[in-house]
Amino acid sequence: MSVLSKMFLNEPRGERVTFKKGFSLRLVILFTALTVVLTSVVILTWEQVLKPPYYEWIERTYPGPANAENRDKIEQRTEHFFISMTVDLIVVSILLIIVDRKQRRLVEVNEQLAHNEKVATLGRVAAQVAHEVRNPLAGLLLYSEHLKGKIDGKLPSGDAQLIDKIIATINNLTATTEQILNFARPVTLAPRRVDLNEVARDVIHLLSTEISTRSIETKLELESSPVAGMLDEPSIRATTLNLVLNAVQAMPAGGHLKISTHNSGNKLSIVISDTGSGMSSDQIKNIFEPFNTTKSRGLGLGMPYAQKVIQQHGGKIVVESQPGKGTDVRIELPANERSH
Ligand SMILES: Nc1ncnc2c1ncn2[C@@H]1O[C@H](COP(=O)(O)OP(=O)(O)O)[C@@H](O)[C@H]1O
Ligand SMILES: [Mg+2]
Repeated sequence: MSVLSKMFLNEPRGERVTFKKGFSLRLVILFTALTVVLTSVVILTWEQVLKPPYYEWIERTYPGPANAENRDKIEQRTEHFFISMTVDLIVVSILLIIVDRKQRRLVEVNEQLAHNEKVATLGRVAAQVAHEVRNPLAGLLLYSEHLKGKIDGKLPSGDAQLIDKIIATINNLTATTEQILNFARPVTLAPRRVDLNEVARDVIHLLSTEISTRSIETKLELESSPVAGMLDEPSIRATTLNLVLNAVQAMPAGGHLKISTHNSGNKLSIVISDTGSGMSSDQIKNIFEPFNTTKSRGLGLGMPYAQKVIQQHGGKIVVESQPGKGTDVRIELPANERSH
């Protein structure tokens, strides 16, 4: 397996699930202890609460010394039946809940693995195509600029503008190719102290033109103290920029953009909220699929890149959205954990 696919297949470290093979002695001891405690509780409940009224009822139903043997038998049988049935029911229910939870986690992890594998394959194919295209594009740019120099002043301005258009198109294609290659490249984390408050302020500053041309109102609800942790600065900045840009692009006719940060000791979070177009549940399901875009000039790599970066940090990214109302993207990151 190539380095690339290994990076993509990286499981979210924060949510790693281990399914131990074979017999777990700890679990057996735990269950034995639980059964002993449960049995004691059930016996105590029986003795203290249920037994006195039940015995009274038996006494009334089978009165007199002639029924003494009968009463003893019924009392004993009921006692055994009640205690064993109650303990069995509780233990089996607990076991079923544990099995159900494990099964659900297994399904989730399988889905995550399948998704990561798909992203890895798509990334590899796209990177190869982009790589093949990059050198010819550089050549095309060189020839076009050479041609532009040669015909400078010799052609009518309308024709000369055509060459400028060719150059602009080549530059756009090159930028797209670079984005694909960037996405496919494994992110190597170089953790250092990063303050998410600073990142949020810088991103708003960087996007100030896009924000003001759409008359978007911006609100920063940043924690008063730094929301800092050991993070890879370039990838966290690029991710935040992508997410805020998505929020801005979702509000072409204006709206409210809010970025809030929070520090809960060992966990940092940043939430980007917009009052834009929002997404349907189907759109949200596909949001981390590479090349999934609804924009005419979009590439559909911002969200899968964000997911890759956040997972590699051992964090998580959650998207909540309502069509026509807006979207909240929440990122949670470990504060002090040393990332690899
Ligand atoms: N804040 C948002 N509001 C509405 N739709 C969004 C938002 N963020 C992402 N999306 C949807 O998810 C798609 C994928 O986003 P992304 O991966 O960043 O690619 P791109 O921005 O190039 O389209 C977008 O095309 C858009 O349909
Ligand atoms: Mg985007």
